[in-house]
Amino acid sequence: MTDAAQKEVNQKVVSLKKEAVELSAHAREEIDALLGHFPADQKKSALLGALNVVQHENKGFLTEELMEAVADYLALAKIEVYEVASFYSMYELKPVARNNVAICTNICCMLMGSQSIVDHVEKKLDIKIGESTDDGRIYLKKEEECLAACAGGPMMQVNHVYYENLTPEKVDEILDALE
Ligand code: FES
Repeated sequence: MTDAAQKEVNQKVVSLKKEAVELSAHAREEIDALLGHFPADQKKSALLGALNVVQHENKGFLTEELMEAVADYLALAKIEVYEVASFYSMYELKPVARNNVAICTNICCMLMGSQSIVDHVEKKLDIKIGESTDDGRIYLKKEEECLAACAGGPMMQVNHVYYENLTPEKVDEILDALE
């Protein structure tokens, strides 16, 4: 290989390397507050909260670089953070639209008609579960677990807020109000 070719390869390798990111001052402050609730040698206890903070700051999703920054900050192995982030459905590992809408389709909600709510929303937004609208307004999350509001089924969670006893009309009102 000529020197010029080798140089080109080296440049490509450098450009493919991930850029390390640092947590923002605000994120570090919030994570420090979380750490204050746990013994100093139990930093992993703050991991779920730390990921929430970082995801919230990053438009609703986590990147590999951010997960690694959290691992460094909490002195954890990177794999420990990847495992948690990929296990819990509340973490998104790819970009999503700014409003997170999760319709519960678990057993109680299903018996109360959640599928008709899903069908209505998919048709209204012209997307399927797991997709975001083209305008970046709504992400229709695939909800795999009961959201613990069974008595109010069918229900959905929109950006951390629960809405219960849904009807198509009520859903329209809620979704139309999202910016
Ligand atoms: S089954 Fe939907 S909240 Fe429990």
